[in-house]
Parts: sequence; C-alpha cells; structure tokens
Amino acid sequence: MSYASVVLTERGHRRLLTGHPWIYKGDISSVESAESGDIVSIRDSRGRHAGFAFYSATSLIALRIISHEDEPDRSLFRRRIEKAIELRRLLYAQRSMERVVHGESDGLPSLIVDRYEDVLVIQTLSAGAERIKEMIVELLCDLLSPRTIIERNDPSVRKLEGLQQISTLVKGEAVTEVWCREGGQLVKVSPLTGQKTGLFLDQQENHEAAAAYARGRVLDAFAYQGGFALQVAKNAAHVTSVDSSAEALHVLKENCHRNGLTHIDTIEANVFDHLTERYRMHATFDMVILDPPAFAKNRGSLAGALRGYKEINLRAMSLLEPGGILMTSSCSYHLSEERLLMLLAEAAADLGRHYQIIEKRTQARDHPILLSMPESYYLKCIVLRMM
Ligand SMILES: C[S@@+](CC[C@H](N)C(=O)[O-])C[C@H]1O[C@@H](n2cnc3c(N)ncnc32)[C@H](O)[C@@H]1O
Repeated sequence: MSYASVVLTERGHRRLLTGHPWIYKGDISSVESAESGDIVSIRDSRGRHAGFAFYSATSLIALRIISHEDEPDRSLFRRRIEKAIELRRLLYAQRSMERVVHGESDGLPSLIVDRYEDVLVIQTLSAGAERIKEMIVELLCDLLSPRTIIERNDPSVRKLEGLQQISTLVKGEAVTEVWCREGGQLVKVSPLTGQKTGLFLDQQENHEAAAAYARGRVLDAFAYQGGFALQVAKNAAHVTSVDSSAEALHVLKENCHRNGLTHIDTIEANVFDHLTERYRMHATFDMVILDPPAFAKNRGSLAGALRGYKEINLRAMSLLEPGGILMTSSCSYHLSEERLLMLLAEAAADLGRHYQIIEKRTQARDHPILLSMPESYYLKCIVLRMM
C-alpha cells in the first residue's frame, strides 16, 4: 500500500524519537498531498521513513503516531486491541465495567472503548480514528462479541478535527440503560445520555479505596451518580451527595433504591456555595470527597482553575473533624501533582491546620499512563488526614 509522506523538522524528528505519540503542526516541514484522516508515512528531515501516523490538517496535533515500523494494516489494529484486552484481564480477572482501550496509552491513538457488561461505547476523537471506525467496530465484534456498540462521539475535541458531534447506536440492539456492578453495588449506566461514556470509569479504583477510609458522616461533593457515595456508604453512618446535575442525582437515588441504601441524601447545588453554607452553619464531617470536573482545560485557564481548586479544598478542609479524611481529586493534566500538593499546603496554612498525606492515587489502571506521554497522567487523587 502507498502512503502520502509528511516530512518532519529536525525538532519534530527528535520529538518522535522520545516516543511521544503526538507531533505538532509546527514540527512539520512539508506535507505531500495528505488529507485529514489519512494514514501517512513519516519522513525525517533527510527523507528517511520513520513511522506511520494519522494525519490531521486542522488540529494543532498534526500527527498521531501509530507505529514506528509496522505496517498499519488491519492485523496491527487487531493485535493492539488484543493487547489492550490482555492488560485488562491481567488487572482484573472479572470486571462488570472497564475501559478496554485508552487511546495512545494502548497504541491506538484517539480511540476510546469502554465496556459496560456486554455493551461497548466507543469514541473516535481524531479524523484518523474516525476513518477506521468501521474496521474497529468489526474487530471489537470479533474479539468481544458485544450485544451493542454505541458511539459517544459528542466531545467538543472532535470539532478541532473538523468532525461532527454525534451519539448514536452503531451495532446491535438499542440500549438506554445497563445495570453494572461496582464493589458489590448495582450501578445504573446510561451510555447514550450519561456524562462521558456513561460513567467516570477512571475513578473506579478510587471509589473502592475511599470505602476503606469512610466512617461517620461523609460529604461527597461533585457526586455525579454516586460513584463514591455507593462505596463509602458501606462503612459510613451517613452520606450527603452534592452535585449541580438533577439528572445525575436522580440516577443516584435510583442506585440507592436498588441497593437498599437509606442513609445517602442528595442535594442539588453548586458545590462552591454549598461548602460555604455548611461552614457558616458550623457543620463538620469525618470525611469529605472532592471530585470536580477539570477546571483547567488548557494552560491558559490554569490561573483561574488554581483559584477554584484552592477555594474548594480550603472550604472542604475547614469542614473536617480532627482525624478526618479529605479525598481530593483533580482530573486536569495541566494541574501537576506538585502544583496540587502546593495548593493543598497553602490552603492548610491559611486555615492554620496540619494534614498528613496518607495516600497518593491516580487514574484506574485500565487508563494506563504512557511513560513517554506526560499528558496521559492526568488524574490525581490525594488522601489527606487532618492531624
Ligand atoms: C468528575 S465528575 C464526578 C464523578 C463522580 N464523583 C464519580 O466518581 O462518579 C464531576 C461532577 O461535578 C458536577 N459539577 C460540575 N460543576 C459543579 C458545581 N459547580 N457544583 C456541583 N456540581 C458540579 C457534574 O455534574 C459532575 O457530575
């Protein structure tokens, strides 16, 4: 098969050799008749073949590396999906729901595959991944025999690639909800309408870890459908879950009902206001969980995001009883672990209180971190204990 060529600058070539799977527009010296979505042959500045990549003419990320040597044919994509499945089976013998393919970290650039029981939800987030969607669906059918495949291609990043935002059934029977299991509890997933692909699977291992710290009264802020609440409820006397989404809290209540849990309350509110109100009322908790959406979506918004993160953490800290636990997350890649810890230390100092770092956690292992791609380490989850 013949491929159009894209020639890298010296700097682009050096970046390629680091193993980073993205090459930016500015690191390309010429493009030979390639269109968005094409698989192209990468050439170094001396014209030597250096690998294959998805090409995008519109995005700042012009090349997403597929391989440095192997021909990017159907069998390569099949092998990559098989390897991704193999990792999940190594991690979890059995799992009701999991991320089966995590894009670049599984050697499948901009492809996401989540599994909820026998329902698969896919995202093709670049023009290249979109182009091979049909083949990917065939391979997934072959390897995992799903009942249904849904496409959740509504993330706004698709616009950067000149792609439409759509959510639709791709294969199999129409499914609006799936009941899965997490840590022994039943959880409802709406793959077509829920946030992300239905759930925040990257927090799944942290949900279970949170249960071990829970006791007494727990405040679960940014609760969504109760990922944390349902787990901490096993050990807590009472859980209050706060979220601004009425739809999410409705599902949380359904989850409680289904699991026979009567000690979880839901409050529809802005967490910033709610924490202030609680402080004003001198409320205290034995554990506070903070799991906000990404406040820093890019480097430009980091300054404002830092203020937001500090504010909610300071307010959450002020509600803790001595010995109380704060489990605080950030899913912004742009907020590094170092910066997050600094910000937590500043908040503690402002309050004149002292905390121990009990645990540093990250995204669930089925969202692997690619060693050569710092951007793939995005979720930080810090467990602090008030002294
Ligand atoms: C990262 S998700 C939380 C996921 C959840 N903790 C879990 O583990 O399943 C962030 C949640 O924050 C909610 N949210 C966003 N901004 C909010 C705000 N200012 N106040 C309250 N909730 C907010 C969203 O509706 C969403 O459910």
